[in-house]
Amino acid sequence: MNRDVQTCVSYDDVLLVPRYSDIRSRSEIDISTELGSGLSLSLPIISSPMDTISEGPMAVAMSAAGGAGVIHRYNTAEEQVRHVIEAKEELQGEDPIVGAAIGVSGNFLNRAAVLQAVGVDFFCVDVAHGHHILMKEAIETLRNAFGDSIHIMAGNVATLEGINDLADWGVDSVRCNIGGGSICSTRIQTGHGLPGLQTIIDCAKTDRDVKIIADGGIKTSGDMVKALAAGADAVMVGSLLAGTNECPGKIFEEKDGSRWKIYRGMASKEAQIKWRGKYSSFEGISSRVPYRGPASNILEELERGIRSGFSYSGARTLSDLHAKATFVRQTTSGISESNTHIVGRSW
Ligand code: XMP
Repeated sequence: MNRDVQTCVSYDDVLLVPRYSDIRSRSEIDISTELGSGLSLSLPIISSPMDTISEGPMAVAMSAAGGAGVIHRYNTAEEQVRHVIEAKEELQGEDPIVGAAIGVSGNFLNRAAVLQAVGVDFFCVDVAHGHHILMKEAIETLRNAFGDSIHIMAGNVATLEGINDLADWGVDSVRCNIGGGSICSTRIQTGHGLPGLQTIIDCAKTDRDVKIIADGGIKTSGDMVKALAAGADAVMVGSLLAGTNECPGKIFEEKDGSRWKIYRGMASKEAQIKWRGKYSSFEGISSRVPYRGPASNILEELERGIRSGFSYSGARTLSDLHAKATFVRQTTSGISESNTHIVGRSW
């Protein structure tokens, strides 16, 4: 047994060192990403397959912004197909990119077949602990059925060994990070996980031909730039999009006039009761979040932040950023200095 304890970093622990830049305008920067097997995005942002985030309307908003949405799987195959068709019809002529989540047991193969038949662009094999024999068997089944005709994203994993195994089993891209999401309680319930940025740093050491999706715990465009700089090819977000018009669920209004929507983990009690009528162990929470209007406003702001981040590293492309980025670790006073800190200052 190895009891040496490694020190790991997450997003707030580090900063990127500003570099010389010869980029005169942010429009010169290309933030597109190639995820392999025909999947490329002009904006490297993917929405989480969660029942309070991604159905047809979010997939439309994501694709229209240049990213992609992954329709969640906590529904019947018919409902999921309806959301894929809704997104593909609304965006006719724009070559929309729409993903759909599937599980690793039960009717996942039938579901995958009907999803491919209606033109889904990629499968996202979506389980909490993806470095698992059921994942291996599911990927084998999917590759036997579909060959290389479709991009397979899968996860989640937290280690280099995990991403390498999933790559060897046949996936194209891997969601990396266990328990780091805003609504996750996996680390509290199970004691397992790794800080999110460390996961990306570790997974980016892979020598396999596989792409990295930094998933969960991303709070700002700055975190996105850090994840991409650490080796991610795209980021996946839930909370950054939560509360927008395109999220499933009603807006509710409090007496003081404030407006809210619900955002919840898919392993929360509330989500489990909704999709299977009962809950067992739960590893997520349900929370209300302020209503935030259209997702497009948020996506535009995030895109501007990412472009600006590339510019500070002097990077014109994602591969340029991967090559040029240098991280430093902050002290606690560095962390407080990095956050806005005018409020509360006595003059
Ligand atoms: P953010 O931080 O963007 O995270 O809100 C979204 C990601 O969180 C994961 N997810 C969960 N993880 N319990 C967990 O431990 C849950 O109930 C849960 N639901 C979602 C998922 O990876 C998502 O993309």
